[in-house]
Order: sequence, then structure tokens, then C-alpha cells
Amino acid sequence: MNMRLFGQVPEGDVYEVTLENRRGLKARILSLGATLRSLEVPDAEGNLRDVILGYDTAEEYWNGQSYLGAAVGRFANRIGGACFFLNGREYRLDANEGRNQLHGGTYGFSRRLWMPIVKSGQEAVFRLTSPDGDMGFPGQLDAEVCYRLEGNALRISYRASASAATPLSMTNHSYFNLAGHGSGTVGTHKLTVRADCYTPTDTEMIPTGEIRPVAGTLLDLRDPVEAETLWNAPELSRTRGLDHNFVLSGGEGPAAVLTAPDGRLSLEVSTDCPAVQVYTAGFLEEQRGKDGAVYGPHHAVCLETQAFPDAVNHPEFPSAILEPGRLWESETVYRFEGAGLAKGRRAQMIYL
Ligand code: BGC
Repeated sequence: MNMRLFGQVPEGDVYEVTLENRRGLKARILSLGATLRSLEVPDAEGNLRDVILGYDTAEEYWNGQSYLGAAVGRFANRIGGACFFLNGREYRLDANEGRNQLHGGTYGFSRRLWMPIVKSGQEAVFRLTSPDGDMGFPGQLDAEVCYRLEGNALRISYRASASAATPLSMTNHSYFNLAGHGSGTVGTHKLTVRADCYTPTDTEMIPTGEIRPVAGTLLDLRDPVEAETLWNAPELSRTRGLDHNFVLSGGEGPAAVLTAPDGRLSLEVSTDCPAVQVYTAGFLEEQRGKDGAVYGPHHAVCLETQAFPDAVNHPEFPSAILEPGRLWESETVYRFEGAGLAKGRRAQMIYL
């Protein structure tokens, strides 16, 4: 049985599901927050590298403020003033970052106990019912997150339906460090983001409504950039590096690529979402992580595929409203390329 009791939080028991495939990918997912707790990938020597930051105990996840690996919802990133109008009604949300809402509120999806359903050794689904009025959002929402290992990749698929129109944007908030979690900053990782534009924000990190070209700015990541050049730039001091919503350009190829300092492991992120929040974890506080690791600022990069932040208050942004009776589906694929995986590819040919 690839499910075990992991711990307890005030809401109840937390379970951990382990998925594993023949390429050597191994993922551990918690029912608390449908959280990706570890993602092990074979490195050049075939040794497993855990490339996700995480904690050892359920209590640390419950008390954590950084959304390590969590499924985030109902609405990823911020809703300005924790308030919006929809169909002639005003909705007041739980405000958990000053007067704004961040990542769905104090008890957003990242702090809920999801129902785990193990489909196979490579696939598990997590279900959550978010009641009408949850954190202030309208309508009951039935949500599902599916984790599936497919060859060199982890696919995360989301489905949801609602009993009333509601803003919806779910993401996964994994912190990636391709040198292995606990190996310090990601300064010499290289980052590429296929985005011609981004959405500038005010001092409270709420979008101004502008969609601004990246050309000629530090946010032009269409060619690979070393991560530390971003947090060393005075222009990006307010956000301590990147904490920006990039408007994905679409077309062929991944939305974002992250490459380890040794160049021997890369992560390619592909998605059907219109945008990605790229966060170089400048605000990640020094803290203890898994297996005695110590984490701190810039020890990871988050690539949070999402709708535009605060879309519900910006008619000029693509709509992020789920209408009742409609099925909302979204998916993001995290594909790894590297020397160790090439060996895995040969292995798979033998098994197939
Ligand atoms: C936000 C950051 C925030 C981080 C952790 C990111 O998605 O954009 O501003 O600090 O999540 O909460």
C-alpha cells in the first residue's frame, strides 16, 4: 500500500501517498493541502535528487507560512482589497495579507485535508469540497487535483465545478532547487520564461492593470538568465528578486525552463494557464526543512502557473470566473531532462 499515516493537524489525520515509476521518479504527496512533499529525480549518476523543499512533520506544514509544495486555491496569488463584485453583488473575502487576500485566505486549500484516492502506483487524486462562503467565495466548489508520473514528468491536473459563479485559479506552490533541496541558494540556476509581457504591481503587490512588455528590462527571460542576477539588481530590490506574474506567450515549447548549476538536470514546465508567477523566494525565512536541511532566502524558485492575479477586479485581464454547471480543467506538466534520466529512458525501452 503506497499510502501511510503521516501525522495529525487540528483538522484530523494527514496521509502521505508515494508514487514511483520505472524511470526512477518518486513523488510524495500529503492529503494536507494536496501538498507535494518531495519529488525525487535521478541525477547524472542515477542517484535520486529530491528537488522540492519540504518539511518532516504535519505540524510544520500546518504552521508554515510559505505554502511549500501546496495546492493553492480557490484563488492563487492576490485579490486586491480582499473584495470583488460579481453579478451585481459584492463579496468580501478573508484578508490574510494586510487588507488583501493571498492564496485563498487563512484557511485556503493549502491548509485543508483533501481526500486521497490512490489510482495506481503512478497516480493519485485528491478531492476537496469547499463550501458556499468558504473564505468569502461564492458557491460550493468541488475540486480535484490529480498527480500522475508519466515517464520523465509529473503531471498535475485540476478539475472543479461550482454551484455559483466564482473566481477560480488553482496552482501548485512547489519550491524547486535542482541541485537538491537543502543545497543553498539557486543563484547559479538558469531560468527561461517564455513571456513577452508581465503585469506590474503596486507596493502591495496588486496588479495595476497594465500589461507591460519585458523587452529591454531585467524581466526579459526569453533567453536564459542566472537567477542571482535578478536578486542582485537594485531595480528588483522591492521584491528581493523575482515575484512577478508573467503573461505566457503560448506556442510550441515549455512556458519556463530551470537548469541546475551543473547543467545536468533541467525542469521544463508546460501549462494551459495564461500566466506564471515566478518567485525566487526572496522572502523565504530561514527555517528547518526535511532531513535536517536549512532553508533560507533564494534557496528555490517557484513556478506557479495561474490565472492573472486579481483578475476578478480587472476586466481587461482574461476572465478567471468559473460559471455554475461548467467543468473547469487545467493542467501543468513538470518534465525533467538530464543525464540520469537518459539512462532511465533506455531502461524504459527494455521494460516496454
Ligand atoms: C507570492 C509571494 C509570496 C509567496 C509565499 C508567492 O506566490 O507571489 O509574494 O511571498 O507566494 O507566500
